[in-house]
Amino acid sequence: MSKHILILAGDGIGPEIMAAAEKVLNKVNDKFNLALTWEQGLLGGSAIDAHGEPYPAVTSVQAQKADAILLGAVGGPKWDNIERSIRPERGLLKIRSELNLFANLRPAILYPQLADASSLKPEIVAGLDILIVRELTGGIYFGQPRGIRELENGEKQGYNTDVYSESEIKRIAKVAFDMASLRGGKVCSVDKANVLEVTELWKQTVTDLQQAQYPNIQLSHMYVDNAAMQLVRAPKQFDVMVTGNLFGDILSDEAAMLTGSIGMLPSASLDENGKGMYEPCHGSAPDIAGQNIANPLA
Ligand code: IPM
Ligand code: MG
Repeated sequence: MSKHILILAGDGIGPEIMAAAEKVLNKVNDKFNLALTWEQGLLGGSAIDAHGEPYPAVTSVQAQKADAILLGAVGGPKWDNIERSIRPERGLLKIRSELNLFANLRPAILYPQLADASSLKPEIVAGLDILIVRELTGGIYFGQPRGIRELENGEKQGYNTDVYSESEIKRIAKVAFDMASLRGGKVCSVDKANVLEVTELWKQTVTDLQQAQYPNIQLSHMYVDNAAMQLVRAPKQFDVMVTGNLFGDILSDEAAMLTGSIGMLPSASLDENGKGMYEPCHGSAPDIAGQNIANPLA
């Protein structure tokens, strides 16, 4: 059965890279007779300009009926000063959440040709192949309550809530274990269990699941500060890393840079049935947008 793709080019270099991606899509489609079809939609700043919001209802309808989504990047200085609740990034968070794309896979692979592009010594990174599994629809990104309030003394106070339920932890840990069984069989779960209760539960839940269902996976745990350090000290010790939304955001940028350029790395965000949104790890790079120089190999 033919599959339908929604292309959301987004902002900045998004439309440039998506034009290139579409050429590839066309070729692959013809060559392998895939009978893929696709349409374009708006997300982020471009959607704000057209509809006044970053994830308008029309895009939501397109996204729900598509079999998969290909996304460029969203955001840029043009929309930096608009109200927080309708900034371009909110569109990205909303589509992730609405489609339940809780499993974010971010591989960091160093291709031999790029060993010199890394800021680390080639022997530290040569052959690097890490998969970061980031929980994408929970944690402090979505936890309530959140906001900026005014205290009695007139001072403002910002606050967010980091929250994970057992079921959320289990389903992302399961993805990590399943992925690891297709690769090196090792999972490192990253937490801050020495300080944060939410990650104490994370650690316990991941451990319980491994013991009950994945006895063949080698599970280790690491505090996030140590993990950040180990990623630059000896990154090849890792196979699959699984962590929450915020730590995953940070560590995946760090891991990407080990490979020389964040511009080269893909990311897949999947729901329970494997429906996914596929995007590059990089942002909209407004500083180089519109000059046709986004291609790191050109
Ligand atoms: C990412 C990005 C997003 C995130 C931003 C643009 C909201 O940094 O996909 O890693 O923080 O998740
Ligand atoms: Mg990020």
